[in-house]
Amino acid sequence: MANKRASSNLINDPLWYKDAVIYQVHIKSFFDANNDGIGDFPGLISKLDYIADLGANTVWLLPFYPSPRRDDGYDIADYRGVHPDYGTLADVKRFISEAHQRGLRVITELVINHTSDQHPWFQKARHAKAGSTARDYYVWSDSDQKYAGTRIIFLDTETSNWTWDPVAGQYFWHRFYAHQPDLNFDNPQVIKEVLSVMRYWLDMGIDGLRLDAVPYLIERDGTNNENLPETHQILKQIRAEIDANYPDRMLLAEANQWPEDTRPYFGDSDGIKGDECHMAFHFPLMPRLYLALAQEDRLPITDILRRTPPIPAHCQWAIFLRNHDELTLEMVTDKEREALWNYYAPDRRARINLGIRRRLAPLMEGDRRRIELLNSVLLSMRGTPTLYYGDEIGMGDNIDLNDRDGVRTPMQWSIDLNGGFSRANPASLVLAPITDPLYGYQAVNVEAQALDPHSLLNWTRRLLAVRKQQKAFGRGSLNMLSPRNRRVLAYVREFTDALGNTQTIVCVANVSRSAQTVELDLSTWAGRVPVEMLSTHPFPPIGPLPYSLTLAPYGFYWFLLVSENAMPDHPPQADRLPQQELSVIS
Ligand code: BGC
Repeated sequence: MANKRASSNLINDPLWYKDAVIYQVHIKSFFDANNDGIGDFPGLISKLDYIADLGANTVWLLPFYPSPRRDDGYDIADYRGVHPDYGTLADVKRFISEAHQRGLRVITELVINHTSDQHPWFQKARHAKAGSTARDYYVWSDSDQKYAGTRIIFLDTETSNWTWDPVAGQYFWHRFYAHQPDLNFDNPQVIKEVLSVMRYWLDMGIDGLRLDAVPYLIERDGTNNENLPETHQILKQIRAEIDANYPDRMLLAEANQWPEDTRPYFGDSDGIKGDECHMAFHFPLMPRLYLALAQEDRLPITDILRRTPPIPAHCQWAIFLRNHDELTLEMVTDKEREALWNYYAPDRRARINLGIRRRLAPLMEGDRRRIELLNSVLLSMRGTPTLYYGDEIGMGDNIDLNDRDGVRTPMQWSIDLNGGFSRANPASLVLAPITDPLYGYQAVNVEAQALDPHSLLNWTRRLLAVRKQQKAFGRGSLNMLSPRNRRVLAYVREFTDALGNTQTIVCVANVSRSAQTVELDLSTWAGRVPVEMLSTHPFPPIGPLPYSLTLAPYGFYWFLLVSENAMPDHPPQADRLPQQELSVIS
């Protein structure tokens, strides 16, 4: 239906998500335009240039709908509105249009597994007659022993997936907090409602929908109630609606599962398009990036990639280092979890559920080399990278805050009051900004880093600019190299365009704290010259022998392989590589 993109500067390509760099923001914590102490849409709009200048081309918004916010907005009380603290529907429309004018796409959340218990559907359901359509919007039982084989996700707060409702006189089912009843997807009316909500936002111009907590839509006796075939049938219905009416939009599955269990979320029709979600997060890869650093061994990464099945050609993984939740350790073995907890969260306050509630910079102990190394892998690995707001300046966290609030604190713009986030009385802020000596806004902020050519912010901008020049990163194949030195991770990204031109990029990363040498078998490309992409400096040509490199501690290289006869005296390719301009961004 209505496609409100007439005045946009969006590239017209239905596979846009393959070349995306996603920037995840929490409206409440980004910028407060009306100085009431909480971030809002007008504030976010005023910072869109910052996001575009960084080099991201897609903005992912955390839930902004009316909600009691007991789960920071994932407890939705009205699917079609905007929380008054964040603005109005008119603000959302203006935001979408302003983003599109800058060539930025917008991803929002479609939280369909559950609602808030304040949602009118639930209020109606608990008063409705047992067995009626209205009651059956949710999942009820007379016993809390049903579906006993189902794990509890929020282990720190919940002891059961059932909660007694005295009004209904029955238990209701919830995979998350007890104030978040699960919708009942066996009720066709629920599916109709969900499709209608989806159309509502897509008609407004939203480009992509993150499908929150999708593995848990359907329950069946005698199963673990995750990834059931009936859940996949629901997703196929949702996708059919997209294909029929919104062919340039994207569905992104949040399925925190093993690769073989996530693969079906892409679905399959002809092996090319898939018939469920266009994208899915690769959850098991994420903790293994951290494990590789902790163990100074590439094996955790290569192992999980080997276990990752191929996906349909038009589909794409979404990859990330950190997000708004805890660094989840659900998809590792018990032994690996212990190792990760001991290494990255010796202070127990940093642990929550099966994870670690810390941001990237503190996890890396502020070590620029490690932060850069992990970002280099994130931005060169197969999949669409997702950056979490604030990590581009190395923001810290506050493990003394409740739940996951410690990684959702206000963006640090400057040394001004409240870190430049808001002019409100500090006592009335939605969350206190970080003020500790290492990561506080006086030490870590956008304004200072924009002025500093060597800052993490400018480094990130430069890396993103370099990445953008090569389609191979978003679209290319990935082949692991297997040098004998396991402290070095090495892979080749390759992409052939419609004219038959092939780009080849070799990525090499030292996951250890000491300098390393490595010999790479690059004989397939003998005669080519590796041009180091950040400096545009040519390295010695590849010969018939193994290619030797030395890497500094946590060092990395991205090499574009250029044909030797294309560079008689100096590297002509290199001249075409981007020189990132430094400018003040605010
Ligand atoms: C979101 C969490 C949220 C949970 C329950 C998750 O998938 O990422 O932030 O707490 O859903 O709504």
